[in-house]
Amino acid sequence: MNGKNDLITGVSHDLRTPLTSVLGFLEYIEQDRCQEEVEIRYYVNIAYNKSLVLRKLIDDLFEYTRVNSGEYPLVMERLDLKAFIRQLAEESVPELTKAEMTYEIDDQAGELWIEASPKELVRAYENLITNAIRYGRSGGKVEIGFSKKGNEAVVRISNFGEMIAESDIPFIFERFYRAEKSRSQHTGGSGLGLAISKSIIERHNGVIYVESSPLRTDFITYFPFFIES
Ligand SMILES: Nc1ncnc2c1ncn2[C@@H]1O[C@H](COP(=O)(O)OP(=O)(O)OP(=O)(O)O)[C@@H](O)[C@H]1O
Ligand SMILES: [Mg+2]
Repeated sequence: MNGKNDLITGVSHDLRTPLTSVLGFLEYIEQDRCQEEVEIRYYVNIAYNKSLVLRKLIDDLFEYTRVNSGEYPLVMERLDLKAFIRQLAEESVPELTKAEMTYEIDDQAGELWIEASPKELVRAYENLITNAIRYGRSGGKVEIGFSKKGNEAVVRISNFGEMIAESDIPFIFERFYRAEKSRSQHTGGSGLGLAISKSIIERHNGVIYVESSPLRTDFITYFPFFIES
């Protein structure tokens, strides 16, 4: 685990980059250097989009520190994991459609009840589904698998795009880490998504890991079953 200083260093850099360009464009306008209105509009639009990136980063950072500190106890309840994930999948249909993708459910399990805080768990799976869409577009579909293993519920989120390089796998859950390809493709992420998902899942006594091959990428999560007490 990295220390607090590493977090601050990483954050400062990631906040400064979009802020520098916002300031650059605004300064240009402020100094009346634009010749025409369309030019002003153009720069305002860029500054606006960079500001959105900044806001997402700040929101994610807030979420990351929140789920990582023990100060906020999760409010746990008995949760029907399959119904919960199915609903999330339905809610991602607009995003899937935009990417010309569909989703399929591979159901190998009976009921899967766990103890969870739905509010946090939504965040964890939204990140996984968004990633499957963002990075798996070429495969045309996202597959969601349900199964049981011993006393644990297993949920798998899979996509069929390009594989994650073996050299990236050990770092993929680290905060701010983005694989070389994604960094160069300007997909606009901050690299906090999987770090947040992992923290949330671990706070539910769950486990997450990834497997990737040229055919498919699977994010696999395990949770202990809910036990009546
Ligand atoms: N399903 C996937 N298929 C292929 N690569 C993936 C997948 N999910 C994540 N990755 C790789 O792991 C990196 C880290 O993912 P993570 O969700 O933490 O950050 P991000 O998506 O880049 O940004 P953010 O989630 O903060 O918007 C991604 O940049 C991408 O390179
Ligand atoms: Mg992500």
